[in-house]
Amino acid sequence: MSSQTLERSRPGQAGPAPAATEEVVVVDYGGQYSQLIARRVRECGVFSELIPHTEAVAALRERRPKGVILSGGPASVYAPSAPALAPELLSLGVPVLGVCYGMQLLAHALGGRVEPAAQGEFGRTALTVHEPGLLFAGTPAKQTCWMSHRDTVISPPPGARTLASSPASPVAAFEDRGRGLYGIQFHPEVAHTPYGKAILTRFLEDACRCERRWTPRSIIDEQVERIRAQVGDGGVICGLSGGVDSSVAALLVHRAVGDQLTCVFVDHGLLRKEEAAQVRAAFEEAFAVPLVVVAAEDRFLARLKGVVDPERKRKVIGEEFIRVFEEQAQALAASGKPAQFLVQGTLYSDVIESGGAAGAARIKSHHNVGGLPERLDLELVEPLRMLFKDEVRALGEELGLPERLVWRQPFPGPGLAIRIVGGEATKERLELLREADHILQEEIRAAGLYRELWQSFCVLPEVRAVGVQGDKRTYGYVIAIRAVTSDDAMTADWARLPYDLLERIASRMMGELEEVGRVVLDITSKPPGTIEWE
Ligand code: XMP
Repeated sequence: MSSQTLERSRPGQAGPAPAATEEVVVVDYGGQYSQLIARRVRECGVFSELIPHTEAVAALRERRPKGVILSGGPASVYAPSAPALAPELLSLGVPVLGVCYGMQLLAHALGGRVEPAAQGEFGRTALTVHEPGLLFAGTPAKQTCWMSHRDTVISPPPGARTLASSPASPVAAFEDRGRGLYGIQFHPEVAHTPYGKAILTRFLEDACRCERRWTPRSIIDEQVERIRAQVGDGGVICGLSGGVDSSVAALLVHRAVGDQLTCVFVDHGLLRKEEAAQVRAAFEEAFAVPLVVVAAEDRFLARLKGVVDPERKRKVIGEEFIRVFEEQAQALAASGKPAQFLVQGTLYSDVIESGGAAGAARIKSHHNVGGLPERLDLELVEPLRMLFKDEVRALGEELGLPERLVWRQPFPGPGLAIRIVGGEATKERLELLREADHILQEEIRAAGLYRELWQSFCVLPEVRAVGVQGDKRTYGYVIAIRAVTSDDAMTADWARLPYDLLERIASRMMGELEEVGRVVLDITSKPPGTIEWE
């Protein structure tokens, strides 16, 4: 893989000379699943990026991808404000695949007929393939697909052949191989379309003639090269949080520039049990990465004294984190190893959310040390800027990061402090919450459910409940169990944990933790709730 693919993906940066790249661009018309299309294309081994339709013409001229996919979108091609198909997208000389709204755009622009159907199709739909053509080669004549549309293509553009239909879509797929035009009404990117990936693969391999070069190994090689070019012989500093993003970012930088990197891990006393030891074991012992572990529990707890309001807790922790980090950067400089660069684990989803502008990634947490680059005059190194979370995990595995770190569930920067709800985060309460959380994690792992859950954790509200243990009346803390499934934390569903697992967790907490008087389960989804309690 040439190093220019990623380089050119940063809008605003001057790109090297254009040359056709092993890339297929997804032009985004605002569809719910647009990001997922790019992810699936990458899973097929081909680099893919999402470009807003308003910027597509200029971006594609510069990039010269090997194919274009027009995404779905909420509009109707007849609505006055509907995003139109820029004719330039069809004159690039590369194959174009329209998905859902993208297909309707193609049909509408090229003389086919699109009409509002009496009945829309939403969800699993039976698809009948009349002629496999290029897209359906090797897939059965009867298959299911996932639809989400009201408008329907009634006739394909002149010259195109109808390949498939569904109960409400006489033209559920068409192709005009001569002109390199393909359209499918259904969503190949969602898991509910079982042959979706096969169909995408046919488009990528047989229509676009892409080579499958996008692999964890190639990404690592390319990033290592890029980091070396950016950093030269400069000093680099990286704040480790124990999460997969900062860990993988740090390992990539270490592979690129070795001991020019120093990692800083701030143990603020708000971490989960054994977390600091795991980071030390992985980075210091297994990878021999220069690591400074700062034992800072006392100073964080001192700053958190009397703080109850959650936003205030976040602010206090964030400020103290920056202070500790700054001290470490100064200590490094004093020891003759000054840092000019700061590693951040910004992901592609953050870049997309923030509108894709270079350097404008939303700062997710204080572990991304917002404010630090300016204060310390550091240039950012963001080796994960083009990667989805699952790609980061694949890289972590390829780099040999321990399973626990690769698959760790997300954990908020302010840690356990924001899970002591309605009260102060004291050492005693943190200790209790940490032990309860440990029991929860142990049992969830033992049940083989850890990876299936987006997050699982305990909450300690500032209330007590009456109970009876032995012959004694008790008045103990309430521990709430929160476990959710989610793809991206934007929405989440409460996890249906098996009753026997819940029973085991509750009886262990009641039996092993004297201060616990009651264990409850949170059955709120997001929305209307949030994942954390505060
Ligand atoms: P909510 O509670 O808003 O959480 O549904 C969404 C995701 O964000 C995490 N979260 C945080 N992460 N600093 C962080 O780094 C924070 O202050 C913070 N608050 C929530 C939460 O764990 C979930 O993954």
